[in-house]
Amino acid sequence: PTIYAITPTFTRPVQKAELTRLSQTFLLVPNFHWIVVEDSIKKTPLVTNLLASSGLTYTHINAPTPPHYKLGKNDPNWEKPRGVEQRNAALRWIRNNLNESHNGVIYFADDDNTYSRFLFKEIAKVKRVGVWPVGLVGGLMVERPICDKATGKVTGFNAVWKPDRPFPIDMAGFGINLKVILEKKDALFAYEIQSGFQESEILKQVTHRDELEGLADGCSKVYVWHTRTQPPVLNTETLLIKKGKSSNQGIEV
Ligand code: UGA
Ligand code: MN
Repeated sequence: PTIYAITPTFTRPVQKAELTRLSQTFLLVPNFHWIVVEDSIKKTPLVTNLLASSGLTYTHINAPTPPHYKLGKNDPNWEKPRGVEQRNAALRWIRNNLNESHNGVIYFADDDNTYSRFLFKEIAKVKRVGVWPVGLVGGLMVERPICDKATGKVTGFNAVWKPDRPFPIDMAGFGINLKVILEKKDALFAYEIQSGFQESEILKQVTHRDELEGLADGCSKVYVWHTRTQPPVLNTETLLIKKGKSSNQGIEV
């Protein structure tokens, strides 16, 4: 199958570094199609050029988060969901441009995580909805489904953070076959739900706990990490900008 990885992304100092890291991992993956969705009113030159020179098969779209739902600079990040508008735009693109003749699996690949190339071999096995462990999330070293090694049947989850979530796993911990996305043609993410429930929101529309396919060696291997990039300290840059002498005049960073 082709792996369709959906990545919401937004302009900030670390954006090019994040997308560079991702693109170079994705180059190691056979049959890969990157759907990059900018949280912006227009497609930016930075992302346009990065994709054009990436060597990847890609689709570049933009879908701005409505201002009312956008996080402010100093808002705590759990206050509003992130990536909703962008992932939904990608799902609409998929439903408008792909059909039953395509063999694919959909994966939501945020731009700040760290992906092992071995993850994609697991994603490629997803028949309907597959799940696997995610490292460094939910306050744990690893948050994971508990599953039977032989059959892949999922019998529970080890989550401690909001364990009452219908599907207590991170966005990076599941993949959905394209045929399921096409069958459940109205399944989307939503704004007005409890924080931390985005994953459950989409999963409850497309599957049930007892039909999940536990992958990554009986959910015992970690191939993706919920890393979060620390915003860089740019206090000196701020001074230079005031003097009209920013360090990156004419240089894309
Ligand atoms: C956790 C999950 O890992 C996310 O998949 C989920 O969307 C989020 O919680 C949530 O509950 O909304 P976290 O690391 O806190 O993630 O989220 P971010 O990595 O900050 O954002 C997820 C994606 O949305 C990233 O690809 C990011 O670039 C993008 N994003 C973030 C935007 O497109 N616009 C923004 O204003 C902020
Ligand atoms: Mn993140």
